[in-house]
Amino acid sequence: TIESKVDSLLAIMTLEEKIGQMNQYNGFWDVTGPVPENGDAAKKYDDLRKGLVGSMLNVRGVKDVRAVQKIAVEETRLGIPLIIGFDVIHGYKTISPIPLAESASWDLEAIKKSAEVAAEEAAAAGINWTFAPMVDISRDARWGRVMEGSGEDTYLSSKIAVARVKGFQGEDLSAHNTIAACAKHFAGYGFAESGRDYNTVDVGTSTLYNTIFPPFQAANEAGVRTFMNSFNELNGVPATGNKYLQREILKHQWGFSGFVVSDWGSIAEMIAHGHAKDGAHATELAVNAGSDMDMESNLYVNELVTLVKEGKVDEQFITDAARRILRVKFELGLFDDPYKYCNEEREQSVTGSKEIQDAVLDMAKKSIVLLKNENNVLPLKKEGQKIAVIGALANDKTSPLGSWRIGADDGTAVSVLEGLKAYSGNQVTYAKGADLVYGQTVFARELDINVSDKSGFAEAKQVAKQADVVIMVLGEHGFQSGEGRSRADIDLPGVQQELLEEVYKVNKNIVLVLNNGRPLSINWADEHIPAIVEAWHLGTQSGNAIAQVLYGDYNPSGKLPMTFPRSVGQLPLYYNSKSTGRPNMPSPGEVFWSHYTDVSNTPLYPFGYGLSYTTFNYTNLKVNVVSNNTVEVSVKLTNTGKLKGKEVVQLYMQDLFASVTRPVKELKGFELVELNPNESKTINFKLSKNELGFYSNEGKFLLEPGDFKVYVGGSSNTTLEAKFTLE
Ligand code: IFM
Repeated sequence: TIESKVDSLLAIMTLEEKIGQMNQYNGFWDVTGPVPENGDAAKKYDDLRKGLVGSMLNVRGVKDVRAVQKIAVEETRLGIPLIIGFDVIHGYKTISPIPLAESASWDLEAIKKSAEVAAEEAAAAGINWTFAPMVDISRDARWGRVMEGSGEDTYLSSKIAVARVKGFQGEDLSAHNTIAACAKHFAGYGFAESGRDYNTVDVGTSTLYNTIFPPFQAANEAGVRTFMNSFNELNGVPATGNKYLQREILKHQWGFSGFVVSDWGSIAEMIAHGHAKDGAHATELAVNAGSDMDMESNLYVNELVTLVKEGKVDEQFITDAARRILRVKFELGLFDDPYKYCNEEREQSVTGSKEIQDAVLDMAKKSIVLLKNENNVLPLKKEGQKIAVIGALANDKTSPLGSWRIGADDGTAVSVLEGLKAYSGNQVTYAKGADLVYGQTVFARELDINVSDKSGFAEAKQVAKQADVVIMVLGEHGFQSGEGRSRADIDLPGVQQELLEEVYKVNKNIVLVLNNGRPLSINWADEHIPAIVEAWHLGTQSGNAIAQVLYGDYNPSGKLPMTFPRSVGQLPLYYNSKSTGRPNMPSPGEVFWSHYTDVSNTPLYPFGYGLSYTTFNYTNLKVNVVSNNTVEVSVKLTNTGKLKGKEVVQLYMQDLFASVTRPVKELKGFELVELNPNESKTINFKLSKNELGFYSNEGKFLLEPGDFKVYVGGSSNTTLEAKFTLE
């Protein structure tokens, strides 16, 4: 068995070799260039040859992976293969939609498939392990990394976590086309104060147990082989040195048998956090807390032997960490054939294959959310409509790739302009309107660039005037969201809002296509623009997917996985909030209730919201209490429009009073249903213990009697409701 093989190997390993397994280096030299002779890279090279490196990240491509693997296998004493990690976040070279966009599909099969093809392409390039899925819940659109998660809801995110883990890892982890997944960032990273990346996290136990933990728990139950800890401190203790999170919850209570990798440099960062005195102290805290692998702090390899000898770290923790890492390497089949992921022919034939392109196109179409469609501006007519396309993003072949696309080449996405031109026989004219100023690592503000150049407005208005329909592609460049890209304002960046208003003056028939990695506050557009399409950053096939939706060859069915606020000042804003003691205005004009004086409490677009080119009607909501831990709910869904379409039927529950207060609504079930015009279907849900109960502040799962409500509909603001009581 794998366990006995791990035991036999551990029995012959020195302390240094075990610690070596816990050391992960970033690709430190150009493997096709000369061997490094001096400095840091030379020391790392030496470590690699001595068996003091267990993993490398950011080495990719069969040729390079083979080269480093060869050193590990052929030059070290025990020949233990490396595990090669990479951020395959939404695709490797062929890029699928950003994870937030994929989540808008609510289509678990498509999401699983997207992870599956990403794994296949990455594995063909020598990669064994992805640092995905990110399962952090976030309620703050200012945080740049909301693009990498599944949004604000725990239930939806848990289902998506399972789909992604199963997609990456497949049925057989040792197959040459599957890779190990990583649930990250454990834990609380998405609750960074004020949405500023890496910021302090201070959350209560109710949020921790009921909101933050469940997607991680679901990933663990789905068999995820690794976890990554997190840059943030959680309630005063950095996640990386947090024993409660890693040893108590993850390894003890949840029985996780894989390994935990630190985030990049997060062990050393405990010094800046004010938790560790120096590197040795940080190492001691991290290992004792259960961080098994050191990503690029370069501390374990240099400090751990001494710490064990001094008795500050128990050797059993080292053995346990090495065991976990070796276990995953065995499961991946790396000991059977360290080069099993290194096949040049496979790399050639799989990279960018038709199957992968088809899957990412399918995923991209399913990720699009129709936010507004007044007077049926959409779908566009295939004949006889003159189309003007405006906006720098419309003609950008890199932005749709999003910010986590390190394996992909710039300029490899199909732009909206290309998609529309290729797709329709119509004459399409284009004007940029305004530049979008951004940098891969810095923004206009930091570069002191003039972002108010409006010299392109005149041309944009000119082409708009001559068109029947104007398609304006506005929003954020792919590099304006993601890690380190938090924003204090979440409106259209630069002069895009002014451009929109200027064009509107000459032609009101506008379809606004949004490209963005986070919810935006677009109140003016919602009030004035007849059609709004949320197209996120959709990846390699972006332009083709958008064209198919705009022309009606694909009927959109996406639903928002995150609330769109009216104002950044409402953040954090999320549908499953708690009530307050003063939730409603007691009488007209009364001020002493929970509200703002300058903006409503409601969102611009709620969680779960999204339109279709057809319409749906919900009737016959029925509830049947089978027992105290089983409730059946059914509803009749009818397609009342003229087109075939898909609807995400959503079931929300409210526990009206409880020992720990419960949210005003919580998603507890959903089903994606496709219906022909006039067709009806009864949808059945079952609420069991897991859905009916909740965690106490001590982390105990409770099922309490009392009164409940269920709401069913096509959005979290549905009002179709029924009541039930549990004795
Ligand atoms: O996987 C990422 C993580 O999410 C953020 N820091 C770097 C890691 C590896 O690239």
